[in-house]
Amino acid sequence: MGLLTILEFPDERLRKQAAEVKVVDAAIKSLVGDMFETMYEAHGVGLAATQVDVHRRVIVIDTSEEKNDPLCLINPIILSRNGETESNEGCLSVPGFFEPVLRSDLIRVKALDAQGESFELDAEGLLSVCIQHEMDHLQGKLFVDYISSFKRQRIKKKLEKSHKLGI
Ligand code: NI
Repeated sequence: MGLLTILEFPDERLRKQAAEVKVVDAAIKSLVGDMFETMYEAHGVGLAATQVDVHRRVIVIDTSEEKNDPLCLINPIILSRNGETESNEGCLSVPGFFEPVLRSDLIRVKALDAQGESFELDAEGLLSVCIQHEMDHLQGKLFVDYISSFKRQRIKKKLEKSHKLGI
């Protein structure tokens, strides 16, 4: 296992479309392990493979307080959505910035787990928001795409400046 490098906005690789996982093989299982390690180390609640420059439909999440409830979703599909909820979102690829985003409140998701077994899950609140946020990453979409272009440009300039300074 090992830590992976997290790409940061406005890196163009965050805009790539992730491909379906055909077989949950040893390479995918190893990726899932590394993604969990990377997410926990960065104190995140979710991480998509896109963020570590692997363009496969793999997501890891842990929204628990104790960080003891790992959830892996491979090839996730949203089967149904209900209601709306707005919350302040952040992202390991947009460090230091939080903005309100409107999402579906309740979702039903179908995915494969880390062993390649199919399962369905009803999610609400933070877990629901987190799954939707991570699924956006797999399509090359970031939470800053939902805010005004003025705010997005401001965040982009600040992050570009810190990348240039190497911080
Ligand atoms: Ni994110």
